[in-house]
Amino acid sequence: MAQLRFPAGFVWGVATSAQQIEGAWNQGGRGESIWDRFAAIPGNIADGSRPHTTCDHYHRWRNDIALMRWLGLGAYRFSTGWSRILPSGRGAPNQAGLDFYDALVDALLAADITPFVTLNHWDLPQVLQDQGGWASRETAKAFAEYAAVVSDRLGDRVRHWTTHNEPWCVATLGHEEGCHAPGHRDPAEALRAAHHLLLSHGWAAEVIRRNARDPEVGIVLILSPGHPATPSADDREAVRRFDGLFNRWYLDPLLRGSYPADVVADRVRRGQLPGGEMPFVHDGDLAIIRTPLDALGVNYYSRTVLAAGPDGEPRAVPAAPERLTEMGWEIYPDGLVEVLQRVAGEYGVRKIWITENGAAFVDPPAVDGRIADPRRTAYLRDHLAAVHRAIALGLPVGGYFAWSLLDNFEWGQGYTRRFGLFAVDFANGERAAKDSAFWYRDTVTANAVDDGR
Ligand code: FCB
Repeated sequence: MAQLRFPAGFVWGVATSAQQIEGAWNQGGRGESIWDRFAAIPGNIADGSRPHTTCDHYHRWRNDIALMRWLGLGAYRFSTGWSRILPSGRGAPNQAGLDFYDALVDALLAADITPFVTLNHWDLPQVLQDQGGWASRETAKAFAEYAAVVSDRLGDRVRHWTTHNEPWCVATLGHEEGCHAPGHRDPAEALRAAHHLLLSHGWAAEVIRRNARDPEVGIVLILSPGHPATPSADDREAVRRFDGLFNRWYLDPLLRGSYPADVVADRVRRGQLPGGEMPFVHDGDLAIIRTPLDALGVNYYSRTVLAAGPDGEPRAVPAAPERLTEMGWEIYPDGLVEVLQRVAGEYGVRKIWITENGAAFVDPPAVDGRIADPRRTAYLRDHLAAVHRAIALGLPVGGYFAWSLLDNFEWGQGYTRRFGLFAVDFANGERAAKDSAFWYRDTVTANAVDDGR
């Protein structure tokens, strides 16, 4: 098997998020988050589960850092729990919450693992939701305050900062499709929420730059290339509409300082934006949003194939079952090269991290201590080969974070979808390395991926 070698200094990591792994939902002074509330409503989570304990990382974090050391990682991307740090949403922070991340950062640095901090991985304090949540401009202000608190405490040691994780998910899944917290179904509200997320990114970036030492400030977007199911004009139009809302609605304001006019026109046509007015966009907001990004985080899982539905609305066309992960997402590594080419080429991004990439599959029980998950390994290998191609094309990718270190609370899917390199027994918290963890460890150690042939 040929080895595809990565450049010296390429950063190898894993990613997690607070709500998905910490547990201890009502310990250490933590407040309720919108996901705690959302998960309490029957029907919202596939297996009826709650993120109360999940991986119990809050108590097992030392052990989890040991797993990262065993993998040989150079970096760890995690999120600080907003509800843990600001249980009342605004005002005085919870010192115990800050202490937790402070100790985590120190232990990571002592283990030679560089911390990459994400401030908002979806766990908005419920009290802020009660005051309007992301639909309210006040929440953007509250986020900037939260960014100030965290960067003030960790900014002497943390260099890599991400404001939001995947604002599309928060806006569209949370406010239009209703399958994520807070579970609203209001397309106009979704655009308002998206704007406040983006605006708060700009405000927070400014705060972090003031507080932290030599910071690199970015945002993490989920990007997916849209491809037409057939070359018909209707299917290509479906692609335009998907791409407009999923990718360009975020890339354009962040990197060009404007919202895509065609998407606004789509919304007007559907009666979702009367008169095309976006009163929530104030003078000067776009200049704030467009603050230079030091780096862009790209989360990539799949492409999206689209056809025009009977009502003309874009409809995602599923791939053949053997090409799907357990999430129903098509395995399509070339799409990663495509999105990287786009952000570097069309949008001029000069530094990119692959902040998430990974796959859920049903894992077999351990046999003689081995958990055989060859499909996850193949997924990671093929996507890393794509990253290698991207680098050979001259695209500025600095590192790769596998999603995820541990099986965890997969949002609306609860514990039914497993992305971990390590299996977690949710009854007793025990972790066990899957074969993919052994493979990732070899890959990290070699700084090279086998080409699978
Ligand atoms: C991404 C999320 C992450 C995880 C993966 C599977 O959209 O950022 O928390 O749920 O999907």
